[in-house]
Amino acid sequence: MKMTVVGNWKMNLAQNSARELVRSLAQAGVKSDNAVDVIVCPPYTLLGTVADLQIEGIAIGAQNCHHAAKGAFTGEISAEMLVEIGCRYVILGHSERRRDQHEDNELIGRKAHHALQSGLRPIICIGETLEQRKNGETFSVIKDQLDKIITSATAECVSSCIVAYEPIWAIGTGLAASAEQAEEVHVCIREHLKACAVADLVPLLYGGSVTADNAAALFACRNIDGALVGGASLKVDEFSSIVQAAREVVH
Ligand code: 13P
Repeated sequence: MKMTVVGNWKMNLAQNSARELVRSLAQAGVKSDNAVDVIVCPPYTLLGTVADLQIEGIAIGAQNCHHAAKGAFTGEISAEMLVEIGCRYVILGHSERRRDQHEDNELIGRKAHHALQSGLRPIICIGETLEQRKNGETFSVIKDQLDKIITSATAECVSSCIVAYEPIWAIGTGLAASAEQAEEVHVCIREHLKACAVADLVPLLYGGSVTADNAAALFACRNIDGALVGGASLKVDEFSSIVQAAREVVH
């Protein structure tokens, strides 16, 4: 399967630094090709800034959207608005939103369904806490998240999405899952999606402290189809090395 590398900028950068980062990435040769799709996900106020640069080969995604097309939802942004500004992807259900905005799987499924109908490809995030891992609950937590998302989004919808496994204990901690730990969960996700009649062509990304140093080992795993990168996506050298590592993978 083609690899996918996504940069989640989270709530970082400003107009000038965002332009500088994307231009530098392009100069460093970071772009989509036959082997890899490259996507950056700036915060809302920088989406138009990045889109206006019209950098070839770097697609744009948002970090969230609402589940309705329009209406009385103060402070929200719809999938339609994101498409209009130039987005093709949207991250949904990131653990930081589950934690801070109390988003649940049912809502994430509804958002995915609406985003897809509006022309955005959702990148759906799932993952367990450290406590759940210690209690041996990782696989059951992952399957439960998938089941609930599929129930509200439909299996057909999820088959057009990208799924990102982001163990919460690995996000922003510098403590990435080992290739073995990530791969065994990806195998579980792959099999569960098949059992739920979701096509096995869904790209499965790993996220959580991915860096230039650990990307190649993660990408060497058969069921890891790319990465959702946080902190390292703000650094030109790091992100371009991760994209290069994805390009060199032969699965
Ligand atoms: P870090 O790469 O900074 O750990 O963040 C991962 C993440 O949350 C990407 O969505």
